[in-house]
Parts: sequence; C-alpha cells; structure tokens
Amino acid sequence: MNEDQRLQGQQVKEKNPADKKSEKDYSKYFETVFLPPSLKEAKKRGKEEVKYHNDFKIDEQFRGMGDGKKFYIRTYGCQMNEHDTEVMAGIFMALGYEATDTVEDANVILLNTCAIRENAENKVFGELGHLKHLKQQRPDLLLGVCGCMSQEESVVNKILKTYNQVDMIFGTHNIHRLPHILSDAYMSKEMVIEVWSKEGDVVENLPKVRRGNIKAWVNIMYGCDKFCTYCIVPYTRGKERSRRPEEIIQEVRHLAAQGYQEITLLGQNVNAYGKDFDDLDYGLGELMDEIRKIDIPRVRFTTSHPRDFDDHLIEVLAKKGNLMDHIHLPVQSGSTDVLKIMARKYTREQFLELVRKIKAAIPDVALTTDIIVGYPNETEEQFEETISLYREVGFEAAYTFIYSPREGTPAAKMTDNVPMKVKKERLQRLNAVVNELSAEAMKQYDGQIVPVLVEGESKNNPDVLAGYTNKSKLVNFKGPKTAIGKIVHVKITETKTWSLNGEMIEEQQLAEVK
Ligand code: 5AD
Ligand code: SF4
Repeated sequence: MNEDQRLQGQQVKEKNPADKKSEKDYSKYFETVFLPPSLKEAKKRGKEEVKYHNDFKIDEQFRGMGDGKKFYIRTYGCQMNEHDTEVMAGIFMALGYEATDTVEDANVILLNTCAIRENAENKVFGELGHLKHLKQQRPDLLLGVCGCMSQEESVVNKILKTYNQVDMIFGTHNIHRLPHILSDAYMSKEMVIEVWSKEGDVVENLPKVRRGNIKAWVNIMYGCDKFCTYCIVPYTRGKERSRRPEEIIQEVRHLAAQGYQEITLLGQNVNAYGKDFDDLDYGLGELMDEIRKIDIPRVRFTTSHPRDFDDHLIEVLAKKGNLMDHIHLPVQSGSTDVLKIMARKYTREQFLELVRKIKAAIPDVALTTDIIVGYPNETEEQFEETISLYREVGFEAAYTFIYSPREGTPAAKMTDNVPMKVKKERLQRLNAVVNELSAEAMKQYDGQIVPVLVEGESKNNPDVLAGYTNKSKLVNFKGPKTAIGKIVHVKITETKTWSLNGEMIEEQQLAEVK
C-alpha cells in the first residue's frame, strides 16, 4: 500500500495488526475513519521532499462548531508536546470553543501523550481509567488521545480493546486535521482514528494560544533522524524537517513586538537545523546569529545532540547578548561502549572535547544533561564511567532515567542481564552525584546579584515571587507583584540544592551597589 492509499484510508483493514486476532471484532470500525498507525511505515526515510503548507484555514463548514462548548487539554512529556497543545488550543478557539481548566466543565477532553518511557504511558492509561466515569455520566463528552502514544500500534490496539470510552485518536502529523477529526467524532458512534505514519510535512500559520505572555516556544524543526537505539521519537515524530528561517525570524520578531521576554527554540535535535535544506547553506549557528539581533531579552534552545554541535554555533553563542549561557547537552552515558550500542555516534572522548571547546569559548557556561542508566548489559565499570564523566564535565543538573524498553526500537530486542534492583541502585547513586554538583553550583551564587525573569508567584507561597536566572536557576524572593513579567535584580541570600532564595534589589539601589 502506498502513502496515498493509506491517507485515503484504503485497505486499512489489511494494515490493522489487531485483525490477525479477530477480524470480526474490528470490522465495525471500517465504516468510519479508521487509519491506525504503523511503526514500520514511520521508520522509513525516503527521498520525498518535505512539503511546506502555508494555507491552513478553518473550513466554513466547521465555523461555530464549538460555540457554547469548552475544551480541556492535559499535556504529558516534553516542550514539543506543550507547544503542540498551544496549537491545538488555537484551533479549538478558532472553532469557537472556550478553554477550561477542569475536566468536569469540558465538552471535549484531549490527552496529549508522551511515549518516551513506559511510566509516561502508564500515567495516560491511568487517566483514561479515571475519565471513564465522566464519560458514563455525560455520554456526549468527547474524549480524545493524541501525541506520541497515538503513533504506536500497540497503544491504539490496547485502547480499542480496553478503553472504549475514547472517541478519537489522532497522531502528531494530524494536528492540523483537528476540525475534521472533531467533526467525524461528533457524527460517528465508533472510535475515530486518524494517525498518519509518514515522514511529515511542515504546516505553517496554524493558530496558537500561548500559555502565558512572558516566555514562548518557537519550533524551528520537527522530527529526528538519529535513531538512537532506545528512542521511540524518530518513529512518533517523523523525519528531520526544518522550518524556513524567514518564518522563524518573523515569528520571533512578532513575539518581541508583543513584549515576550524569553523564547526557546524547539526541536528534537535542534543542532540538525537546516541540514535538510537543498537550496540553503544555513544551520543553527546562522539562525542564532540572526535571532541575536532581535530585541528580545532572552533566547534559549533545546534539545541539542552533541554530534551536530558545530564550531560555528559555539562561536555565535560566545557572542552572548541575549543568547543565554546555559546549554542542555544530553550525553546519555559516559562509556564509549554503551554510547556505541546506543548509536549516539560519538565517544566519551569526543564528548569531552566538545565540552572543552564550549568552555573555552564560553568560560562561565552552565551545562546540563540527560542520562540513561541500566542500559541493556551495562556493566558496573561502564556505569562508573558515567559518574566520572559527570564529574569531569561538572554538569550543574541532569534529567536521569532508568532505561525503558520501547516496542519497535532496536534496544527493545536486546537481551538484558541487568536486574531492575541494580538499575534502581545505579539511578540513586547517580542522583546523589547530580544533587551534590547542583548544590555546589548553587553555592557559587551566595551573596551575588543576579538578573531574574520573574514568572509569577511561587507555587508554594503566594507571597513569594519566582523566576529564573540566565543559567536557568530557580530563584524565590519577596517582591512586588508588578515585577512579574520583568527582569529584575535579586541578591542571593540562601542557596539550596535546586533553588536560590534572595531579596530583590531596586534599580536605584543597584546603581549604588555598582
Ligand atoms: N528509556 C529511558 N530514557 C529514555 N530517554 C529517551 N528514550 C528513553 C528510554 N527508552 C531519555 C533520554 C532523552 C530524554 C528526553 O529521555 O535521556 O534525552
Ligand atoms: Fe531520541 Fe536520539 Fe533523536 Fe534524541 S537524538 S530524539 S534521543 S533518537
């Protein structure tokens, strides 16, 4: 079956793995939209060009669909998902829906899911269980599952079998189809499933409702072609495809004009930005060099892959200005052998060399990372190499994970001789080092005056304000509510493992101190 046939929903019956078990059980679904995912299709990387769509609009037939109705979206996982939620919220609003932050009030509930580890998926299944009673009380409620989990055959089959309270499932490539999917779900008694397992296009000018008016995410590219052996993302998010620089720059200018204080350029592997352009020799370094000139106080980017982190980018970041001196650089392991099995395509030494170059250009840079422990057959010595690398680099923080097998990835097929007890114990040992180095990094701030972008009241105490430094350190301090949304100066009076406490310094006082 070719792509066109898939998209038209033809021969879908043959494609559904669940058919093998019982054709009869699923036959009713073929009457309506039933386009399930295929990880095998999603893995393909062909030669077709990325199609850029600039003509998104809400069809007349859908206008007013949401009048008098409310939507609720629960987001799991990474910033990419958070940003997709902002786009879906934009589409809902364009359809006439209103946002609500309680499920009880909602006429449509979407779970925007994450597939990166098993526990992320279990949370979603748990939530679907909780929502069942709402659906029983209010059968007209629409319940949808979208995001990365929708791209997995096993998940869709499990939902079909066990969670018949779900009305619609749609994939990461189908977000712009939300009006059609909603309309189908209203019309149909059966579950509507529309998941394109394709390499992916770039759809511009989708509506967005951003969460907050201080910080904004800006997608610069989609997908990932790295295929690290543990990772499901290249299957759920399609191939690497970059947005055109002029579209990105226009979006950043617009955000600056609206008064946003900080933007984060987003992509699964932002360092591969531009590699897919045939007509342009233009990468992340060039893009950051342009964005640096835009009048927005803070610019960040995430997530980097060490392999594609080139010298030009380092050179541009060293110019600082609004480019923040914090780089999140996932290493995953400190052992060259494990890195090889992970297909990270760099060695421990190459990673350390990259860090050396970055530190030479930006001496006070803050580096943070992601680490997976308990990779299949990881030895004690290999794990120790991760600890020693962590110390050698002097990372200031890390997201640490126990390896979680993801069906369809090469690592999931590897035999694994590391017991879960050992993996958990390694995670604890690593976290102890992570905490130790974080506390040390925080101590450096004692007595210093740092710029803080104030995001709002502290979660734990409404009398206290909270914000972040250039290097992404959380600061809690007493100050006037008028400081929210501004960059103010705070004198640090107490340092903790994961945050700083301080006192706001008025501009007048600051001049005196200086
Ligand atoms: N198991 C555990 N952690 C994973 N990550 C990605 N895939 C897996 C997996 N299968 C981690 C990596 C990545 C971060 C986003 O999640 O560290 O950088
Ligand atoms: Fe996953 Fe590796 Fe791509 Fe990151 S670079 S999204 S870990 S495959």
